Amino acid sequence: MKSLEIKPQVYWVGGIDWNLRYFHGHTAPRGTTYNSYLIVDEKIALVDAVKHYMFDEMLSRIRDVIDPARIDYLVVNHVEMDHSSGIPKFLEAAPHARIVTSPKGKKGLERHYKKSWDYVIVNSGDELKLGRRTLKFVHTPMVHWPDSMVTYVPEDKLLLPNDAFGQHIASTARFDDEVGWDIVHEEAARYYANIVFPYGEQVDKALEVAATLPIEMIGPSHGLILRSYIPRMLQVYHRWANNESDAKAVIAYDTMWGSTQKIALALQEGLESAGIPVTMRFLQTNHISDVVPDVLTAKAVLIGTPTLNNGMLPTVSALLTYLKGLRPKNRIGMAFGSYGWGGQGARDAAEAIRGMGWEMPEETINIPYIPDESELLTAREAGQRLGQNLKMISDM
Ligand code: FEO
Repeated sequence: MKSLEIKPQVYWVGGIDWNLRYFHGHTAPRGTTYNSYLIVDEKIALVDAVKHYMFDEMLSRIRDVIDPARIDYLVVNHVEMDHSSGIPKFLEAAPHARIVTSPKGKKGLERHYKKSWDYVIVNSGDELKLGRRTLKFVHTPMVHWPDSMVTYVPEDKLLLPNDAFGQHIASTARFDDEVGWDIVHEEAARYYANIVFPYGEQVDKALEVAATLPIEMIGPSHGLILRSYIPRMLQVYHRWANNESDAKAVIAYDTMWGSTQKIALALQEGLESAGIPVTMRFLQTNHISDVVPDVLTAKAVLIGTPTLNNGMLPTVSALLTYLKGLRPKNRIGMAFGSYGWGGQGARDAAEAIRGMGWEMPEETINIPYIPDESELLTAREAGQRLGQNLKMISDM
C-alpha cells in the first residue's frame, strides 16, 4: 500500500479502519484511521503504531518507503491499545527499534504486554536528535491518559499530538482541506465530547504550550492531518476546554406511552418561542454518545424520563451516568417526566443534574399519567422562561 509524504522525508504510514462504527462506548459513524508517521533521517523513527488488525496495512506502507528493519526508534506518545496493540508484531519487523516513551508510557506498556523491551525514557522538554531533524517531547498528562505526550519536529514545524485534535474519519483524503471544515469540525467535536471532555483544564495547559510553538501542520493519530484549519481547530478546542457554550438547548428524553414526549415537545415550543435553537434527542433512536456533542455546545440541557420501577428509564440513567463521567460544566439543567404513581424517575434525574453542579432555575416538571392542556401550557411557559434566561445570559 502507498505511503504519503507529508513533509520532505516524513511519511504517513497509518491504517484506515473503514468498518469501525463503535469505539469503546461511543459511535464512530465515519470509521477512523490510526495514523503513524515515519521520519527518515540519519536515524529513522516511527511515531505511534496502529491497532493490531491494521498492522499489515501499516507495514506495507512502511515498506513503500524503507525496509522496516532499518527503523531505530518507535515513539509511543500514548499507550492505549488502538495505538499500541500493533507493537509486538512491529518489533518482529523492526527488531532494533528502541521504544521512546514517557515514564508512565513505559509502565503502561509493561502492564499491557508483559515484555522487557528496550526503552528510551523521555521527560517533558527532552529532545532526540535524528540527524537533520530533532524530536522534542512534551508531556500532556490526562489528554487523555496519564502517559500522554506529544512529539514536535521543530525543523518541519510539525506537531504529532496523538489523540488531541483527532477525528474519527476513514478516508482516502489525508488532509483537512480535502474534506472541508464542516465534517472535520463535526467529527472533532464528537471526538472531544466523548473522549477529552473531562480534561478541559489539562487541554488548556497543552494549548498554552502549543501557542509557544510555530506550527505549520498537525498530524493527530486519528483522522485528517491539519494544515489549513489549524487556527480554527485551536479556537474551538479553547472554547471546549473552557466549557464555553452557545445559547441553544438539547432535550434528551425517553418515553413509555408518550407522556414524557408530550412534555418534551411543549418545552421545545417554549424554548423556540424565546428564539432558542433546540435539538431533540429521543434516546430510543439516538445513542447516548451522539447526545454528548450537543451537550458540548448547548448551554441548556433538559432531561426527561418517565418513572419505571421507582426510577428512571435505563436509557436516561445511562445518559446521566455517562455525562457524570464526562463532567460538562457551566450548564443550565432541567428535569421533567411523567409517572403513574411514585414519580421517582424525574426526581432522580433532577438529583443527577444537581450532582453535576449545573444551575437549575426551573422546577422539575413531573406529571401523573397523561398531561392535560393546562399542564402542557405550564411546560411551554417553563421552556419560554428558560429560553429568555439563556438569551439574557448570551447577551451579557
Ligand atoms: Fe486513540 Fe486514547 O487512543
